[in-house]
Amino acid sequence: MLNLCKLLVAFLVTTIVTAHPGPDPILPRSAIQRRSTLAKRCAGHVESFNKRRMAKKALNKRWADSGRNTTVQITTEAPYYETIQNDTCVLTPEVTRGPYVWPRSQTLRQDMTEDQVGVPLWLDVGVLDMATCEPLPNVLLDFWHCNATGSYSSFTGLSPNTDFVKLLSELNINITNYDLGVTDLHTDDTTWLRGMWPTNKEGLMEMKTIFPGFYTGRSIHIHVQAHTNWTVRGNGTLVSSNTVSTGQIYFEEDLSQKIIALQPYASHTQINRTTNANDSVFSQDTAGGYNPIVSVVPADGQDVSNSMIGYITIGVDTSAIETFNK
Ligand SMILES: *[C@@H]1O[C@H](CO)[C@@H](O)[C@H](O)[C@H]1NC(C)=O
Ligand SMILES: *[C@@H]1O[C@H](CO)[C@@H](O)[C@H](O)[C@H]1NC(C)=O
Ligand SMILES: *[C@@H]1O[C@H](CO)[C@@H](O)[C@H](O)[C@H]1NC(C)=O
Ligand SMILES: *[C@@H]1O[C@H](CO)[C@@H](O)[C@H](O)[C@H]1NC(C)=O
Ligand SMILES: *[C@@H]1O[C@H](CO)[C@@H](O)[C@H](O)[C@H]1NC(C)=O
Ligand SMILES: *[C@@H]1O[C@H](CO)[C@@H](O)[C@H](O)[C@H]1NC(C)=O
Ligand SMILES: *[C@@H]1O[C@H](CO)[C@@H](O)[C@H](O)[C@H]1NC(C)=O
Ligand SMILES: *[C@@H]1O[C@H](CO)[C@@H](O)[C@H](O)[C@H]1NC(C)=O
Repeated sequence: MLNLCKLLVAFLVTTIVTAHPGPDPILPRSAIQRRSTLAKRCAGHVESFNKRRMAKKALNKRWADSGRNTTVQITTEAPYYETIQNDTCVLTPEVTRGPYVWPRSQTLRQDMTEDQVGVPLWLDVGVLDMATCEPLPNVLLDFWHCNATGSYSSFTGLSPNTDFVKLLSELNINITNYDLGVTDLHTDDTTWLRGMWPTNKEGLMEMKTIFPGFYTGRSIHIHVQAHTNWTVRGNGTLVSSNTVSTGQIYFEEDLSQKIIALQPYASHTQINRTTNANDSVFSQDTAGGYNPIVSVVPADGQDVSNSMIGYITIGVDTSAIETFNK
C-alpha cells in the first residue's frame, strides 16, 4: 500500500543525537511546544494538500516535454495518483544537521547529481506552513547526502568507513573540543549531491539526485533544511536565510536492500550497512510513531531499480527560526 501522506515537521528535540558528537542548536522549549500544537492542528489538511499535489499528471507531462527526462521516461499515467492515504501522516523531531553540512557548496539547482553514478531519484517535496496548514511558497529546500559508496562532496578526504570519533582522533581533533557548528572538517570544494531549490506557489519543489549510499554508523538518509527569507549569491550559495527546519529523511529497508545490491552501491563492502532499525538518529525520528520515510514509486512505472520518485511533506513553523553560521 502506498502511503502518500508523509508529514515531516520541525517538532521536538529530546536529546542531542549521539551519532554525531558535538552540540547542535536546540530550540527553546516554548518553540517546541508551539510546534507540537501546530502540527496536531494540521493533520487533516495534509490530505487535501496531497490531493492537490498528486494531481501531477500535468506536471509529469511537463517534465517529459521539458527535456528533463534525459535518463528516464516519466510515465504520464501512474497508479500512485489514485489513492491518497492520510492514516500515516507523520511528524518527526528536529534532528541533527550532522558534520557534513557545507553551505558554501550548496547551490541553487534542480539536479544535484553532477557526475555521481547511482539510481536516479526525483525528490518531490511539499512544504506546509504549520501555522495556517497551507502550502508554503518560496521556501528554499536544501539537500545534501553521500554518494553511492558513502562519501560526501567537500569532505572527500574523510573516509566513509572510519568511525567518526576515530576520524577526529586521526585528524588530531580532541573530541571534547569538537563543536558541530564550528569545527571545520571540509577537505575540498566539490559540490555533487548538494543542492537547493525553492517551493513553487503550490508549496512544491523537485530535486533530482541519486539514491544515496551509506557510511559508517548511519542508515541511508538525506539531510534536508528549509529556509525562509533567503538570498543567494551569484554562484547560487546562500548569503543569508532563516532556517525553519532541519531534518533527515529515510527509505524503507526493503527498498534499500534492493538498491544497495546494485552497482556501484554493491562495491561498498568495507563496512556493513546500518539499517534504520539500528540507527540512533532514525530511532529518535520515529519515537512516538513518527515516520520520516519517503514514499517511493518507480519513475518508469515498472521498477525502482531503474529510477524512482520519492514523495515527502515537510511541515514548518516559520516563526521558529534556528540560526547557524552559514
Ligand atoms: C524523453 O524520453 C523519451 C523516451 O525515452 C524520448 O523519446 C524523448 O526524446 C525524451 N525527451 C527528451 C527531451 O529527451
Ligand atoms: C483523515 O483526514 C480526515 C480529514 O481530512 C479526518 O477526518 C480523518 O480523521 C483522518 N484520518 C486519520 C486516520 O487521521
Ligand atoms: C560561492 O561564493 C562564495 C563566496 O565567494 C564562496 O565561499 C563559495 O565557495 C562559492 N561556492 C561555489 C560553489 O562556487
Ligand atoms: C564517491 O566519492 C568518493 C570521493 O570522491 C569517490 O572516491 C568514489 O569513487 C565515489 N563513489 C562512486 C560510486 O562514484
Ligand atoms: C581533550 O580536551 C580536554 C578538555 O580540554 C582535556 O581535559 C583532555 O586532556 C584533552 N585530551 C587530549 C587527548 O588531548
Ligand atoms: C530577512 O533577511 C534580511 C537580511 O537579508 C534581514 O535584514 C531581515 O531582518 C530578515 N527578515 C526577517 C523577517 O527575518
Ligand atoms: C558484517 O557483518 C557480518 C555478520 O555480523 C560479519 O561477519 C562481517 O565481518 C561484517 N563485515 C564487516 C566488513 O564488518
Ligand atoms: C539491529 O536491529 C535489529 C532489528 O531491530 C536487532 O534485532 C539487532 O539486535 C540490532 N543490532 C544491533 C547491533 O543493534
